[in-house]
Amino acid sequence: MIHVPPVATPHFVQIHHTNNADLRAELQAGLMAQPAHAAPKFFYDALGSRLFDAITELQEYYPTRTEAAIVAAHGPAMARCVPPHAVLIDLGAGSCAKAARLFPVLAPAAYVAVDISVDYLRDALGTLQQRHPSLPILGLGLDFSAELALPPEAQAWLTDHALQQAPRCVLYPGSSIGNFSPAEALALLRQARTLCAQGGAGGGLLIGVDRVKDRAMLEPAYDDALGVTAAFNRNLLLHVNQLLGSDFAPARWAHVACFNATKSRIEMHLVSQGEQTVRWPGGERHFADGERLHTENSYKWTPEAFADLLQQAGFAAPTEWSDDQGWFSVFWAPA
Ligand code: AVI
Repeated sequence: MIHVPPVATPHFVQIHHTNNADLRAELQAGLMAQPAHAAPKFFYDALGSRLFDAITELQEYYPTRTEAAIVAAHGPAMARCVPPHAVLIDLGAGSCAKAARLFPVLAPAAYVAVDISVDYLRDALGTLQQRHPSLPILGLGLDFSAELALPPEAQAWLTDHALQQAPRCVLYPGSSIGNFSPAEALALLRQARTLCAQGGAGGGLLIGVDRVKDRAMLEPAYDDALGVTAAFNRNLLLHVNQLLGSDFAPARWAHVACFNATKSRIEMHLVSQGEQTVRWPGGERHFADGERLHTENSYKWTPEAFADLLQQAGFAAPTEWSDDQGWFSVFWAPA
């Protein structure tokens, strides 16, 4: 008789339950502000997440493939920094593809995938579990931009697997840290350090960061020839319509991406094409021709400034790897 080893199943914990009344209040406040703004989290409904995946395949959008090339080239050096058999905690895991590529290199003892909703994680974690049948896998639904800490349910899961004292490696790839202002990024990094320090010795943060570069390269990365990023930006309006009951007409808004060199960030805006009034239950906003709705900042860092930020957050001196062109950095910051 052939012995087939049992396949473990991923465990799921949902902490953050989106309260639609809170989201509506947040959206309304942003739409009534001067200038109007909406947070980048509103990009990511089902279609928005697919459009983002398409962006990562675009020739102009260098960060994803450049980070993958750095990991491929320097994987062994990274493995010498990250302790083996760590609990790998993946922030904003999504399809879990970036972390999965690191499994052979880092040989984690367990994998904790964190995203705002466990629903985004179910399929990916099911497939991953089949490929790694004995790896303990936890899907954690948590809005870590509000607070990054393991909830009691996740700590209990680690204890059940005798991993409460294992070192922790927090993974934050893709330069998503760039979507936070420097002050917000510092606050998040401080929480990441505490999370690492609560595990066994040797833990730390492995993080991808996009570097400052010429606007001639940055701006097309956020305004591609096929118009995928424009569709991603306009799709935010459809998501807002669905959440708020508003009547944004995406065709009446133009996508703009520009590098603000003073603030070292790409800014994405939607620009009103003609005068218009947008209405929703309980409110309305008049937009003049050319008036903007600010939807995203993507901060670009020098390696020196980001290393300094990591140390301000309490990490020890980091190790940094880059690509030959110096476009992108991956840091290992020991907790
Ligand atoms: C998710 N984040 C790192 C992307 C970025 O580059 O800031 C989001 C994005 N916005 C437009 N294109 C990609």
